[in-house]
Amino acid sequence: MGGTKRIYLDNAATSWPKPDAVYDAVDRYMRESGAPAGRSVYAEAHQANQIVAATRAAVARLIGADDPRRIAFTLNGTEALNIAIHGLVDEGDRVVTTVAEHNSVLRPLRELESTRGVRVDRVSCNVRGFVDPDDVRAAMGAKTKLVVVTHASNVTGTIQWVADIARIAHERGALVLVDAAQTLGYLPVHVGELGIDLLAAPGHKGLLGPLGTGLLYVRAGVEAKLRTLRQGGTGTQSDQDRHPQTLPYKYEAGSLNVPGIVGLSAGIDFLRLQGNKLRSHHQHLCERLVAGLIEIEGVKVFGPADPADRVGVVSITIDGYDPQEVAAMLDGAHRIQVRAGFHCAPLMHAAIGTIDLGGAVRFSIGVFNTEADIDAAIYAVAEVAAASAAT
Ligand SMILES: Cc1ncc(COP(=O)(O)O)c(C=O)c1O
Repeated sequence: MGGTKRIYLDNAATSWPKPDAVYDAVDRYMRESGAPAGRSVYAEAHQANQIVAATRAAVARLIGADDPRRIAFTLNGTEALNIAIHGLVDEGDRVVTTVAEHNSVLRPLRELESTRGVRVDRVSCNVRGFVDPDDVRAAMGAKTKLVVVTHASNVTGTIQWVADIARIAHERGALVLVDAAQTLGYLPVHVGELGIDLLAAPGHKGLLGPLGTGLLYVRAGVEAKLRTLRQGGTGTQSDQDRHPQTLPYKYEAGSLNVPGIVGLSAGIDFLRLQGNKLRSHHQHLCERLVAGLIEIEGVKVFGPADPADRVGVVSITIDGYDPQEVAAMLDGAHRIQVRAGFHCAPLMHAAIGTIDLGGAVRFSIGVFNTEADIDAAIYAVAEVAAASAAT
């Protein structure tokens, strides 16, 4: 076992490899078109407009949004979250969030807390990573304007009870922003059924697009309260020096990342053709990984006990090792590529007890991983753990 084949298990950071159709689409666009979207009328520019419109419509269909104009393209998940948080929250407002969030939620909120007097209540989770919706209810106040929750943790993979949390938020008149970075493309995400007002997601993880892609969904009516963070050219209302308030242009100042959007379109097409079998693929591999890892002496596996409650993200610690050391050994000796440390989620590591251990080692499963990849990872972890026990 071992060998030199690269085994990529860092899909929670960005998915790799991408489907061939994604490489082909980006390459073809770059070589044969290269035209901007929304700006000009020559043939290639018109095609660029069409592909952007078709991708917007594909994203809208995927998340059950009734109108593609409610989808704005962004640089990544972080930008979408920043537009939503900074665009909505004012001085004196309250926000409820959870300790399961990524720094792309925690840091904008910390900034608003320290510079604008915004009160942020951070709801705890249990050791398996679940946030109790009743704790969200208890944290809500009359001035709570926004509840921000991640759909699934990027540390433990725990899927949160988003629909229950959204119902509670709406009962108290607050809006709900969901970070779907670890679920979109992996789980069904229907904004209407889940009660989501704003949804932020990268295009480069579960949707299989290139880095540099992301999206923000804005429910009908919410745009009236959601300021723009950037103003600039949109190719619309160009006779005016005021930024348009119409969607999606309100949140899309400047030239769009057309090569990225072209690739994203091919990624979403690939997912549509695969259908439901991808969820079972992920669940099967995740179950196999957890089952193998929990048998290894000295290894602690975090996250939900039931594989149905998590996405394909599994974090572990190995007694006697710093997580960075484990990651270096897995790559150096076995070419198994994982992410070690705090995963930009410090409060989650505090909640599961790994903050003083240097965090954890995270395996995250992608569309193209196989049973053989998972078995190689289990074997490699067992070797590392055995070496620790021997010293
Ligand atoms: C839960 C979660 N939210 C947000 C992000 C930020 O996404 P991006 O890297 O596209 O900015 C990530 C990225 O790892 C994430 O895991």
